[in-house]
Amino acid sequence: MRTQVAIVGAGPSGLLLSQILAKHGVESVIVENRSREYVEARVRAGVLEHGAVDVLAEYGVGDRLHAEGLRHDGVYLQWPGQRRRIDFVQSCGHSVWVYGQTEITKDLINARLADAQQVFWEACDTAILGADTDRPTVTFVDRDGNPASIEADYVAGCDGFHGVSRPTIPEALRSVHQRLYPYAWLGILAEVAPSTDELIYALHPDGFAMHSMRSEKISRLYLQVAPDDDIANWSDDRIWDGLSTRLALDGWTLHSGPTLEKSITPMRSFVSSPMRWGRLLLAGDASHIVPPTGAKGLNLAIADVKRLGAALVRSIKEGSDDLLDRYSDDALERVWQSTYFSWWMTSMLHTPPVEDPDRNFLLQMQVTQLRHVTSSAAAAAGLSENYTGSVLPYP
Ligand code: FAD
Ligand code: DHB
Repeated sequence: MRTQVAIVGAGPSGLLLSQILAKHGVESVIVENRSREYVEARVRAGVLEHGAVDVLAEYGVGDRLHAEGLRHDGVYLQWPGQRRRIDFVQSCGHSVWVYGQTEITKDLINARLADAQQVFWEACDTAILGADTDRPTVTFVDRDGNPASIEADYVAGCDGFHGVSRPTIPEALRSVHQRLYPYAWLGILAEVAPSTDELIYALHPDGFAMHSMRSEKISRLYLQVAPDDDIANWSDDRIWDGLSTRLALDGWTLHSGPTLEKSITPMRSFVSSPMRWGRLLLAGDASHIVPPTGAKGLNLAIADVKRLGAALVRSIKEGSDDLLDRYSDDALERVWQSTYFSWWMTSMLHTPPVEDPDRNFLLQMQVTQLRHVTSSAAAAAGLSENYTGSVLPYP
Protein backbone atom coordinates (compact mmCIF):
# COMPACT_ATOMS: atom_id res chain seq x y z
CA MET A 1 0.00 0.00 0.00
CA ARG A 2 0.97 3.59 -0.48
CA THR A 3 -0.47 6.67 1.24
CA GLN A 4 0.61 10.21 2.10
CA VAL A 5 0.58 9.85 5.91
CA ALA A 6 0.66 6.49 7.71
CA ILE A 7 -0.76 6.96 11.21
CA VAL A 8 0.08 4.51 13.99
CA GLY A 9 -2.66 4.48 16.67
CA ALA A 10 -6.41 5.23 16.62
CA GLY A 11 -6.63 7.11 19.91
CA PRO A 12 -7.70 10.77 19.95
CA SER A 13 -4.37 11.88 18.39
CA GLY A 14 -4.40 9.50 15.44
CA LEU A 15 -8.10 9.85 14.69
CA LEU A 16 -8.12 13.64 14.87
CA LEU A 17 -4.97 13.88 12.76
CA SER A 18 -6.56 11.81 9.99
CA GLN A 19 -9.70 13.98 10.24
CA ILE A 20 -7.65 17.18 9.89
CA LEU A 21 -5.61 15.80 6.99
CA ALA A 22 -8.72 14.60 5.15
CA LYS A 23 -10.36 18.04 5.44
CA HIS A 24 -7.32 19.45 3.65
CA GLY A 25 -7.26 16.75 0.97
CA VAL A 26 -4.36 14.73 2.39
CA GLU A 27 -4.75 10.95 2.43
CA SER A 28 -3.89 8.77 5.42
CA VAL A 29 -4.15 5.17 6.60
CA ILE A 30 -4.46 4.26 10.30
CA VAL A 31 -3.00 1.15 11.93
CA GLU A 32 -4.37 0.30 15.40
CA ASN A 33 -3.53 -2.74 17.49
CA ARG A 34 -6.88 -2.91 19.38
CA SER A 35 -10.43 -3.50 18.17
CA ARG A 36 -12.81 -0.62 17.43
CA GLU A 37 -15.02 -1.73 20.36
CA TYR A 38 -12.08 -1.70 22.76
CA VAL A 39 -10.93 1.76 21.66
CA GLU A 40 -14.47 3.18 21.96
CA ALA A 41 -14.99 1.77 25.45
CA ARG A 42 -11.67 2.91 27.01
CA VAL A 43 -12.65 5.30 29.84
CA ARG A 44 -10.12 8.09 30.33
CA ALA A 45 -10.19 11.88 30.33
CA GLY A 46 -13.20 14.17 30.55
CA VAL A 47 -12.29 17.87 30.54
CA LEU A 48 -11.66 19.88 27.36
CA GLU A 49 -10.02 23.27 27.15
CA HIS A 50 -12.04 25.81 25.16
CA GLY A 51 -9.33 25.79 22.46
CA ALA A 52 -9.62 22.00 22.12
CA VAL A 53 -13.39 22.34 21.71
CA ASP A 54 -12.81 24.91 18.96
CA VAL A 55 -10.44 22.53 17.13
CA LEU A 56 -12.96 19.66 17.29
CA ALA A 57 -15.74 21.96 16.05
CA GLU A 58 -13.55 23.37 13.26
CA TYR A 59 -12.99 19.85 11.98
CA GLY A 60 -16.64 18.81 12.07
CA VAL A 61 -16.83 16.83 15.32
CA GLY A 62 -18.31 19.47 17.64
CA ASP A 63 -22.07 18.99 17.23
CA ARG A 64 -22.69 16.26 19.81
CA LEU A 65 -20.07 17.84 22.09
CA HIS A 66 -21.98 21.12 22.08
CA ALA A 67 -25.37 19.36 22.45
CA GLU A 68 -24.47 16.85 25.18
CA GLY A 69 -21.27 18.24 26.75
CA LEU A 70 -21.46 20.37 29.89
CA ARG A 71 -19.86 23.82 29.90
CA HIS A 72 -18.20 24.55 33.24
CA ASP A 73 -17.33 28.10 34.19
CA GLY A 74 -15.47 27.22 37.38
CA VAL A 75 -14.16 24.55 39.71
CA TYR A 76 -14.17 23.89 43.46
CA LEU A 77 -10.98 23.48 45.46
CA GLN A 78 -11.42 21.89 48.86
CA TRP A 79 -9.49 21.12 52.04
CA PRO A 80 -10.90 19.96 55.37
CA GLY A 81 -13.75 22.27 56.37
CA GLN A 82 -13.50 24.52 53.28
CA ARG A 83 -14.77 24.34 49.71
CA ARG A 84 -14.04 27.40 47.60
CA ARG A 85 -14.92 28.12 44.00
CA ILE A 86 -12.55 29.47 41.35
CA ASP A 87 -14.51 31.35 38.70
CA PHE A 88 -12.72 30.79 35.38
CA VAL A 89 -14.81 33.28 33.43
CA GLN A 90 -14.27 36.05 35.95
CA SER A 91 -10.56 35.18 36.32
CA CYS A 92 -9.58 34.77 32.68
CA GLY A 93 -12.66 35.04 30.45
CA HIS A 94 -12.81 31.35 29.41
CA SER A 95 -14.54 28.07 30.31
CA VAL A 96 -13.92 24.34 29.89
CA TRP A 97 -16.22 21.57 28.63
CA VAL A 98 -16.91 18.24 30.32
CA TYR A 99 -17.29 15.57 27.61
CA GLY A 100 -15.83 12.08 27.89
CA GLN A 101 -12.87 10.92 25.82
CA THR A 102 -14.99 7.86 24.93
CA GLU A 103 -17.51 10.17 23.24
CA ILE A 104 -14.83 12.12 21.36
CA THR A 105 -13.36 8.83 20.16
CA LYS A 106 -16.78 7.61 18.97
CA ASP A 107 -17.48 10.92 17.19
CA LEU A 108 -14.10 10.81 15.46
CA ILE A 109 -14.43 7.15 14.44
CA ASN A 110 -17.91 7.82 12.99
CA ALA A 111 -16.62 10.85 11.10
CA ARG A 112 -13.61 8.96 9.71
CA LEU A 113 -15.62 5.91 8.67
CA ALA A 114 -18.26 8.15 7.02
CA ASP A 115 -15.36 9.53 4.94
CA ALA A 116 -14.30 5.97 3.99
CA GLN A 117 -11.07 6.29 6.02
CA GLN A 118 -9.00 3.12 5.95
CA VAL A 119 -8.35 1.85 9.50
CA PHE A 120 -6.62 -1.48 10.17
CA TRP A 121 -8.03 -2.56 13.56
CA GLU A 122 -6.40 -5.35 15.60
CA ALA A 123 -3.09 -5.10 13.74
CA CYS A 124 -0.11 -6.73 15.42
CA ASP A 125 3.68 -6.56 15.19
CA THR A 126 3.57 -2.93 14.00
CA ALA A 127 7.02 -1.59 13.04
CA ILE A 128 8.25 1.65 11.48
CA LEU A 129 11.08 1.24 8.97
CA GLY A 130 13.20 3.85 7.20
CA ALA A 131 11.93 6.83 9.21
CA ASP A 132 15.20 8.63 8.46
CA THR A 133 14.87 8.00 4.70
CA ASP A 134 12.58 9.49 2.02
CA ARG A 135 10.41 6.36 1.99
CA PRO A 136 9.28 5.50 5.51
CA THR A 137 7.20 2.33 5.79
CA VAL A 138 4.87 0.92 8.43
CA THR A 139 4.69 -2.86 8.50
CA PHE A 140 2.22 -4.98 10.47
CA VAL A 141 0.22 -8.20 10.43
CA ASP A 142 -3.49 -7.58 9.82
CA ARG A 143 -6.27 -9.17 11.86
CA ASP A 144 -6.56 -12.07 9.39
CA GLY A 145 -2.87 -12.86 9.87
CA ASN A 146 -1.64 -11.39 6.56
CA PRO A 147 1.59 -9.39 6.55
CA ALA A 148 1.05 -5.85 5.25
CA SER A 149 3.11 -2.74 4.60
CA ILE A 150 2.29 0.91 3.98
CA GLU A 151 4.78 3.17 2.25
CA ALA A 152 4.18 6.84 3.04
CA ASP A 153 5.56 10.36 2.74
CA TYR A 154 5.38 10.66 6.53
CA VAL A 155 4.60 8.48 9.54
CA ALA A 156 2.70 9.96 12.49
CA GLY A 157 3.43 8.18 15.77
CA CYS A 158 0.12 8.52 17.66
CA ASP A 159 0.33 5.22 19.50
CA GLY A 160 0.42 6.39 23.10
CA PHE A 161 2.98 5.88 25.84
CA HIS A 162 3.47 2.13 25.26
CA GLY A 163 3.55 2.31 21.46
CA VAL A 164 6.35 1.48 19.02
CA SER A 165 6.87 4.98 17.58
CA ARG A 166 8.93 6.65 20.31
CA PRO A 167 11.35 3.68 20.67
CA THR A 168 11.87 3.80 16.88
CA ILE A 169 13.88 6.99 17.42
CA PRO A 170 17.44 5.97 18.41
CA GLU A 171 17.88 6.38 22.15
CA ALA A 172 21.02 8.49 21.66
CA LEU A 173 18.92 11.12 19.85
CA ARG A 174 16.21 11.35 22.52
CA SER A 175 16.24 13.40 25.65
CA VAL A 176 13.90 12.29 28.44
CA HIS A 177 12.71 14.25 31.48
CA GLN A 178 10.47 12.42 33.89
CA ARG A 179 9.10 12.14 37.41
CA LEU A 180 7.25 9.19 38.91
CA TYR A 181 4.85 10.20 41.68
CA PRO A 182 4.55 8.16 44.86
CA TYR A 183 0.78 7.72 44.37
CA ALA A 184 -1.82 6.65 41.79
CA TRP A 185 -5.47 7.42 40.94
CA LEU A 186 -8.27 4.95 41.45
CA GLY A 187 -11.05 6.07 39.09
CA ILE A 188 -14.68 4.97 38.96
CA LEU A 189 -17.51 5.64 36.58
CA ALA A 190 -20.79 5.43 38.51
CA GLU A 191 -24.45 5.34 37.59
CA VAL A 192 -25.57 8.17 39.82
CA ALA A 193 -26.40 11.84 39.24
CA PRO A 194 -23.44 14.07 40.15
CA SER A 195 -23.67 15.46 43.69
CA THR A 196 -22.09 18.72 42.50
CA ASP A 197 -22.65 21.24 39.69
CA GLU A 198 -18.91 21.65 39.00
CA LEU A 199 -15.78 19.53 39.58
CA ILE A 200 -14.39 19.27 43.12
CA TYR A 201 -10.66 18.74 43.72
CA ALA A 202 -10.09 17.93 47.41
CA LEU A 203 -7.01 17.67 49.62
CA HIS A 204 -7.57 15.45 52.67
CA PRO A 205 -5.14 13.87 55.15
CA ASP A 206 -6.30 10.41 53.88
CA GLY A 207 -5.39 11.47 50.32
CA PHE A 208 -6.70 13.42 47.34
CA ALA A 209 -10.26 12.90 46.05
CA MET A 210 -12.07 14.32 43.06
CA HIS A 211 -15.66 14.50 41.91
CA SER A 212 -16.19 14.83 38.17
CA MET A 213 -19.04 13.78 35.90
CA ARG A 214 -19.98 12.65 32.42
CA SER A 215 -23.67 13.58 32.20
CA GLU A 216 -26.70 14.35 34.37
CA LYS A 217 -26.90 10.62 35.21
CA ILE A 218 -23.25 9.52 35.27
CA SER A 219 -20.55 10.56 37.75
CA ARG A 220 -16.78 10.08 37.52
CA LEU A 221 -14.80 10.07 40.78
CA TYR A 222 -11.18 9.55 41.74
CA LEU A 223 -9.24 8.64 44.90
CA GLN A 224 -5.51 8.88 45.57
CA VAL A 225 -4.15 5.39 46.34
CA ALA A 226 -0.67 3.88 46.74
CA PRO A 227 1.13 3.34 43.41
CA ASP A 228 1.35 -0.42 43.97
CA ASP A 229 -2.26 -0.81 45.17
CA ASP A 230 -4.47 -3.42 43.51
CA ILE A 231 -8.03 -2.68 42.38
CA ALA A 232 -9.03 -6.03 43.94
CA ASN A 233 -8.40 -4.42 47.35
CA TRP A 234 -11.13 -1.85 46.70
CA SER A 235 -14.72 -3.03 47.07
CA ASP A 236 -17.39 -0.56 45.99
CA ASP A 237 -18.23 0.07 49.67
CA ARG A 238 -14.61 0.87 50.49
CA ILE A 239 -14.38 3.26 47.52
CA TRP A 240 -17.59 5.12 48.44
CA ASP A 241 -16.54 5.30 52.12
CA GLY A 242 -13.20 6.81 51.09
CA LEU A 243 -14.84 9.29 48.76
CA SER A 244 -17.43 10.31 51.40
CA THR A 245 -14.74 10.93 54.00
CA ARG A 246 -12.38 12.86 51.75
CA LEU A 247 -15.06 14.96 50.02
CA ALA A 248 -17.11 15.58 53.22
CA LEU A 249 -18.42 19.07 53.88
CA ASP A 250 -21.07 20.20 56.39
CA GLY A 251 -24.46 20.44 54.71
CA TRP A 252 -23.42 18.51 51.59
CA THR A 253 -24.05 14.84 50.76
CA LEU A 254 -22.25 12.59 48.30
CA HIS A 255 -24.72 10.28 46.52
CA SER A 256 -23.43 6.81 45.65
CA GLY A 257 -24.54 4.36 42.95
CA PRO A 258 -23.52 1.25 41.05
CA THR A 259 -20.02 1.43 39.56
CA LEU A 260 -19.78 0.81 35.81
CA GLU A 261 -15.98 0.74 35.61
CA LYS A 262 -13.06 0.99 38.02
CA SER A 263 -9.31 1.01 37.52
CA ILE A 264 -6.01 2.31 38.93
CA THR A 265 -3.72 4.57 36.85
CA PRO A 266 -0.10 5.26 37.84
CA MET A 267 0.99 8.90 37.75
CA ARG A 268 4.03 10.22 35.97
CA SER A 269 5.33 13.29 34.19
CA PHE A 270 7.33 12.31 31.10
CA VAL A 271 8.60 14.32 28.14
CA SER A 272 10.68 12.82 25.33
CA SER A 273 12.14 15.28 22.87
CA PRO A 274 12.48 16.02 20.03
CA MET A 275 9.06 15.03 18.68
CA ARG A 276 10.47 14.37 15.20
CA TRP A 277 13.04 12.05 13.68
CA GLY A 278 13.33 12.40 9.91
CA ARG A 279 9.90 11.58 8.51
CA LEU A 280 8.51 10.23 11.80
CA LEU A 281 6.51 12.77 13.84
CA LEU A 282 5.26 12.00 17.35
CA ALA A 283 2.04 13.41 18.84
CA GLY A 284 0.14 13.03 22.14
CA ASP A 285 1.01 10.38 24.74
CA ALA A 286 3.57 8.82 22.37
CA SER A 287 5.81 11.74 23.25
CA HIS A 288 4.65 13.01 26.66
CA ILE A 289 2.58 12.01 29.69
CA VAL A 290 1.24 14.23 32.46
CA PRO A 291 -0.32 13.19 35.76
CA PRO A 292 -4.11 13.54 35.39
CA THR A 293 -4.59 16.36 37.94
CA GLY A 294 -5.42 19.37 35.79
CA ALA A 295 -6.83 17.28 32.91
CA LYS A 296 -4.14 18.15 30.37
CA GLY A 297 -3.28 14.84 28.61
CA LEU A 298 -6.09 14.80 26.06
CA ASN A 299 -5.88 18.56 25.50
CA LEU A 300 -2.17 18.33 24.73
CA ALA A 301 -2.85 15.54 22.24
CA ILE A 302 -5.40 17.76 20.46
CA ALA A 303 -3.04 20.78 20.38
CA ASP A 304 -0.18 18.59 19.03
CA VAL A 305 -2.18 17.19 16.13
CA LYS A 306 -3.66 20.57 15.20
CA ARG A 307 -0.10 21.81 14.77
CA LEU A 308 1.13 18.60 13.14
CA GLY A 309 -1.80 18.51 10.72
CA ALA A 310 -1.06 22.05 9.51
CA ALA A 311 2.64 21.24 9.13
CA LEU A 312 2.00 18.05 7.11
CA VAL A 313 -0.55 19.77 4.87
CA ARG A 314 1.92 22.58 4.18
CA SER A 315 4.69 20.12 3.30
CA ILE A 316 2.56 17.76 1.19
CA LYS A 317 0.40 20.36 -0.56
CA GLU A 318 2.73 23.33 -0.83
CA GLY A 319 6.15 21.70 -0.73
CA SER A 320 7.35 23.82 2.18
CA ASP A 321 8.83 22.19 5.30
CA ASP A 322 8.96 25.35 7.40
CA LEU A 323 6.18 24.27 9.81
CA LEU A 324 7.46 20.69 10.01
CA ASP A 325 10.93 21.95 10.87
CA ARG A 326 9.44 23.98 13.74
CA TYR A 327 6.87 21.38 14.83
CA SER A 328 8.80 19.87 17.73
CA ASP A 329 10.03 23.16 19.22
CA ASP A 330 6.63 24.85 18.86
CA ALA A 331 4.65 21.90 20.26
CA LEU A 332 7.03 21.48 23.19
CA GLU A 333 6.27 24.97 24.48
CA ARG A 334 2.70 23.92 25.30
CA VAL A 335 3.88 20.47 26.45
CA TRP A 336 6.19 22.06 29.04
CA GLN A 337 3.54 24.56 30.18
CA SER A 338 1.03 21.74 30.74
CA THR A 339 3.70 19.56 32.35
CA TYR A 340 4.44 22.38 34.77
CA PHE A 341 0.76 23.01 35.57
CA SER A 342 -0.05 19.30 36.04
CA TRP A 343 2.95 18.90 38.36
CA TRP A 344 1.90 22.00 40.32
CA MET A 345 -1.76 20.91 40.70
CA THR A 346 -0.66 17.37 41.59
CA SER A 347 1.78 18.61 44.24
CA MET A 348 -0.79 20.97 45.77
CA LEU A 349 -3.52 18.33 46.09
CA HIS A 350 -1.92 14.95 46.87
CA THR A 351 -0.99 13.86 50.35
CA PRO A 352 2.70 12.95 50.73
CA PRO A 353 3.32 9.29 51.70
CA VAL A 354 3.14 8.67 55.49
CA GLU A 355 6.83 7.74 55.55
CA ASP A 356 7.82 11.19 54.21
CA PRO A 357 9.60 12.94 57.14
CA ASP A 358 8.43 16.32 55.77
CA ARG A 359 4.77 15.28 55.58
CA ASN A 360 3.40 17.64 58.24
CA PHE A 361 5.25 20.60 56.82
CA LEU A 362 4.18 19.78 53.25
CA LEU A 363 0.50 19.39 54.25
CA GLN A 364 0.59 22.83 55.87
CA MET A 365 2.17 24.28 52.72
CA GLN A 366 -0.56 22.68 50.61
CA VAL A 367 -3.37 24.20 52.69
CA THR A 368 -1.62 27.57 52.57
CA GLN A 369 -1.33 27.31 48.79
CA LEU A 370 -5.02 26.40 48.49
CA ARG A 371 -6.00 29.38 50.67
CA HIS A 372 -3.85 31.66 48.53
CA VAL A 373 -5.07 30.44 45.16
CA THR A 374 -8.72 30.76 46.26
CA SER A 375 -8.35 34.20 47.82
CA SER A 376 -5.92 36.09 45.57
CA ALA A 377 -7.40 37.24 42.24
CA ALA A 378 -3.92 37.07 40.65
CA ALA A 379 -3.30 33.49 41.83
CA ALA A 380 -6.81 32.41 40.77
CA ALA A 381 -6.17 33.91 37.33
CA GLY A 382 -2.95 31.88 37.06
CA LEU A 383 -4.79 28.66 37.82
CA SER A 384 -7.72 29.58 35.53
CA GLU A 385 -5.65 30.46 32.48
CA ASN A 386 -3.74 27.20 32.81
CA TYR A 387 -6.81 25.05 33.51
CA THR A 388 -8.83 26.49 30.61
CA GLY A 389 -5.77 26.45 28.35
CA SER A 390 -5.89 30.15 27.53
CA VAL A 391 -2.35 30.60 28.92
CA LEU A 392 -1.00 29.88 25.41
CA PRO A 393 -2.87 30.42 22.14
CA TYR A 394 -3.93 27.30 20.21
CA PRO A 395 -1.94 26.75 17.02
P1 FAD B 1 -3.83 7.01 23.37
O1 FAD B 1 -5.19 7.42 23.78
O2 FAD B 1 -3.03 6.18 24.29
O3 FAD B 1 -3.98 6.28 21.97
C1 FAD B 1 -2.94 5.53 21.40
C2 FAD B 1 -3.53 4.45 20.50
O4 FAD B 1 -2.47 3.71 19.90
C3 FAD B 1 -4.37 3.44 21.26
O5 FAD B 1 -5.61 3.25 20.63
C4 FAD B 1 -3.51 2.19 21.29
O6 FAD B 1 -4.30 1.01 21.34
C5 FAD B 1 -2.75 2.34 19.98
N1 FAD B 1 -1.48 1.62 19.93
C6 FAD B 1 -0.59 1.42 20.93
N2 FAD B 1 0.46 0.70 20.50
C7 FAD B 1 0.23 0.45 19.20
C8 FAD B 1 0.95 -0.27 18.20
N3 FAD B 1 2.12 -0.86 18.49
N4 FAD B 1 0.43 -0.36 16.97
C9 FAD B 1 -0.75 0.24 16.67
N5 FAD B 1 -1.49 0.92 17.59
C10 FAD B 1 -1.00 1.02 18.82
N6 FAD B 1 -6.01 12.51 30.70
C11 FAD B 1 -6.72 13.44 31.29
O7 FAD B 1 -6.64 14.62 30.86
N7 FAD B 1 -7.57 13.10 32.34
C12 FAD B 1 -7.71 11.79 32.77
O8 FAD B 1 -8.47 11.50 33.66
C13 FAD B 1 -6.96 10.80 32.16
N8 FAD B 1 -7.05 9.50 32.55
C14 FAD B 1 -6.27 8.56 31.92
C15 FAD B 1 -6.33 7.22 32.31
C16 FAD B 1 -5.51 6.25 31.70
C17 FAD B 1 -5.60 4.79 32.13
C18 FAD B 1 -4.59 6.66 30.70
C19 FAD B 1 -3.67 5.63 30.04
C20 FAD B 1 -4.57 7.98 30.29
C21 FAD B 1 -5.38 8.95 30.90
N9 FAD B 1 -5.37 10.30 30.51
C22 FAD B 1 -6.11 11.22 31.11
C23 FAD B 1 -4.57 10.76 29.44
C24 FAD B 1 -5.36 10.87 28.15
O9 FAD B 1 -6.35 9.89 28.11
C25 FAD B 1 -4.35 10.76 27.06
O10 FAD B 1 -3.49 11.88 27.14
C26 FAD B 1 -4.93 10.63 25.66
O11 FAD B 1 -5.61 9.41 25.53
C27 FAD B 1 -3.83 10.75 24.63
O12 FAD B 1 -4.30 10.37 23.38
P2 FAD B 1 -3.36 9.66 22.33
O13 FAD B 1 -4.21 9.41 21.14
O14 FAD B 1 -2.12 10.43 22.18
O15 FAD B 1 -2.93 8.29 23.01
C1 DHB C 1 -11.42 14.28 34.85
C2 DHB C 1 -10.13 13.82 34.79
C3 DHB C 1 -9.11 14.64 35.23
O1 DHB C 1 -7.84 14.22 35.16
C4 DHB C 1 -9.36 15.89 35.76
O2 DHB C 1 -8.35 16.64 36.22
C5 DHB C 1 -10.66 16.33 35.79
C6 DHB C 1 -11.68 15.52 35.33
C7 DHB C 1 -12.50 13.40 34.36
O3 DHB C 1 -12.23 12.24 34.03
O4 DHB C 1 -13.64 13.84 34.32
